[in-house]
This record gives sequence, structure tokens and C-alpha cells, in this order.
Amino acid sequence: MRVLVVGGGGREHALCWKLTQSPKLTRLYAAPGNPGMAQLAECFPIPVMDIDGLVALAQRERIDLTVVGPEDPMAAGIADRFEAEGLRVFGPSQRAAEIESSKAFALGLMHKYDIPTADYAAFTDPEQAEAYLKRKRPPFVVKADGLAAGKGVVICPTIEEAREAVHEMMVQRHFGDSGGTVVIMDYLEGEEASILAVTDGEDIAVLAPAQDHKRIFDGDRGPNTGGMGAYAPAPVVTDAVLSDVRERVLLRTLRAMKAEGRPYKGVLYAGIILTADGPKVIEFNCRFGDPETQVVLPLLEADLLDLFLAACEGRVKEVSLPSPRRASACVVVASEGYPGDHRKGRPISGLEEVERIPGTVVFHAGTAQKEGRIVTSGGRVLGVTAIADDLRSAITRAYEAAGQIRFDGVYYRKDIGHRALKRT
Ligand code: AMP
Ligand code: GLY
Repeated sequence: MRVLVVGGGGREHALCWKLTQSPKLTRLYAAPGNPGMAQLAECFPIPVMDIDGLVALAQRERIDLTVVGPEDPMAAGIADRFEAEGLRVFGPSQRAAEIESSKAFALGLMHKYDIPTADYAAFTDPEQAEAYLKRKRPPFVVKADGLAAGKGVVICPTIEEAREAVHEMMVQRHFGDSGGTVVIMDYLEGEEASILAVTDGEDIAVLAPAQDHKRIFDGDRGPNTGGMGAYAPAPVVTDAVLSDVRERVLLRTLRAMKAEGRPYKGVLYAGIILTADGPKVIEFNCRFGDPETQVVLPLLEADLLDLFLAACEGRVKEVSLPSPRRASACVVVASEGYPGDHRKGRPISGLEEVERIPGTVVFHAGTAQKEGRIVTSGGRVLGVTAIADDLRSAITRAYEAAGQIRFDGVYYRKDIGHRALKRT
């Protein structure tokens, strides 16, 4: 089978890495890919939003399956376009992807179908948003309705901060049209987890529960980022929690989407807070998480290509995934200054040394090839991932490996997995 992976980050490198383990794979393509993916796939410099270009590539290369990584093309209708051309694609339709691209839609759906989440209200008028804030008690969670690369969420301990967040989103349009509608959501207290499932719209195959680390600094301080590291399985997600999330969140959401005339196919990612009243959803994503994918796929003892085909062909019912027997950890190696301004083009060394450490794999995220060298080209540069029999060993191994990576301005968190380690 000829498979095309759309995207060029750590998540897509992990997808390529896992797909190459499938005996069914004959040829792997990526667009645009990155230097890490280029070792596994033939890369074409087509941007993820150039849907016409991607369709043309899939037709020309007779691609059997296209796997879409990021949310933007999903929200732009890439799956609908591919299907209209008779091309098989793994990912939700534009209307189904609204579960991520409109927080107001997702929250409305959850309330309508009794899927556990927080109270909220959605506004298109800043004055009404202010009036609502006055009636509620802090802390507030203010979210731009649309996509904002994970940055459109502000946790506000005071009403003044919430007012300012509303003003920045709705009036100053810090996130462009994404802030035309704003949702204000009650703050949920508890530990966070990412639960990802592959689905055909009817049934689900749930992957190892993971935990991301969104803040830039140790101890979960500082601004939010795309994710500074992850581990799986997250022990906070016990079997009881997982089966609860499966029934009351994931399956209920699929039935709800079907009832709304938006059948859902692809990855459904539930961002959960484990509150004193049980798991509650803070957001849905319509795609694999980054960096969750980098820890979840190495634990998957199944053929990923088969799993994607099962989702495309409505056969997920027949799939049964074994529970993960090992543990994995990913340390995101970033450029100093991220998520703010940071330098690019810094030569990276230590990649070959890390590849020699058993149970370790480096996923490229923000790298480029320049004059025969791998250099930094983004904020999150590499996802250094290790797998071991237990979580503590996986974390130790990931840090050993991350310590080998050198470039000017290298930065990574030193406490990935701290919550899980405290439990054991
Ligand atoms: P999101 O992009 O919706 O995942 O939000 C980014 C981060 O904000 C999440 O990872 C949480 O840490 C936090 N967050 C979002 N919504 C809530 C909420 N209702 N209560 C508490 N924390 C939240
Ligand atoms: N790691 C968070 C996300 O992918 O949205």
C-alpha cells in the first residue's frame, strides 16, 4: 500500500515511524515532511493547506490512503475533498472537525447529549460576555471559539484578567476571526489527561492514555506551549476512569455526532480533567495530539495501517487492541525563547549518538536541512522519546538521550512525568 502522511511535525514523524512497521506498506510519502521523516518517506514540499496540491499528489502517485496530521486542513475540509475525488483518507469531514474548530459547537454538543463537561456560555458581543462574568465567580476560562494553535485559552484568576482576555480576543482580535466568538467556561480542578481513540464513527479503539505538559517551565509554570513532553500510560487514568471515558465521553460523542448528521471518522482526542466528580471534557481535538502521538504510538502493539484501514472501512468493531505492556516518555527539546521569539538555523549535534541508545527514537519537529547539516527551524525542535518496561526507566532513558542533543540555545523541561512519579 502507498500511504501519504500530511504534515511535518513530531506527530507526523511518529506516524511515519509507526507506519513503516506495517508489512502492508509498500511506499511512504509525506507532505511537506521534515528531515526526520525524509529518512522514512519521500517528501514533497506541499503545504498542508494546499489541498488542491495534495489531491494532485495523491492522484499522481496513486496513493491508497492519506493520513492527515494537523487540524487546519481538517477544518478546511481536506477529507471531504479527498473523498469527493474517490481518494481514501483517514480524518473527519469538515463538519465533523467542528468538534475542534468551534469550541461553542463542542460545548453545545456536550451539554445537549449529557457528555460530562463544565458549564459555559458563548458570546459574540463583548458586553454580554462582561455581564456574564459579573454573574459568575472566578477563576474563569476564556477561550477563542476557533482554532488558535493551542494559544487561544486563557485561565483567569480574577474578573479583571477575564475582561482583558475577552477584550483581546473579541475587540483587538489577537487570534483573528477565531475570537469573533468567545466561550467562557467554568474552571475545572484536577489532573489532566489526553485520551485518543481511533474510530469509524460507530466503534472505537482506545490508545494508551497520555499526559502532556503544556507549560514552558518546570512545575507547570509560565505560558502555554504546544506541549513540552508527554508520557503514557498515565497512571492517573485507571482502568475504571478509562472505561468511564469510553462510555460516557467517547461513545456518547460518536452517537451525538451521528445524530447531528456529522458522522465522525478518524481520531477523536478527548482532553479530560479528572475532577472530584469524575472525568470531564475540557476540549475535543479532531486529530492525534502532539506530543501525545510520540508516546502513544511506540506502545501500540498493533499494525497502525490496519487500524487506519479499519476506521476507513467501518471495521473498528473487529479491532481489539492489547493494553500497553510498557511505558514511554517524550522530552520535547525546544529553542530557548519558545513559545515567544527564538532563533532558527542553529546546527544540531548528538542525533546519531541518541539513535544508538536502545529503546530510544528522536522525532523531528522544527528541524531543517542546511548545507548537509540538520539545523533548528522552529520552537519545538525534537521529541526525544524512550520506551522501557516501566515509566521511571522510560523517563530516565529519555533524559539520558535528550542530554546528548546539543545546539545553541537548547531548552527542555526537566520534570516530564513528575505527576506520575509522585504517585509511584
Ligand atoms: P485547551 O486548548 O482547550 O486544551 O486548553 C489549554 C489548557 O488550558 C488545557 O490544557 C488546560 O490545562 C487548561 N484548561 C482549558 N479548559 C479548562 C477548564 N475548563 N478548566 C481548567 N483548565 C482548563
Ligand atoms: N498536545 C496537545 C494537542 O495536541 O492539542
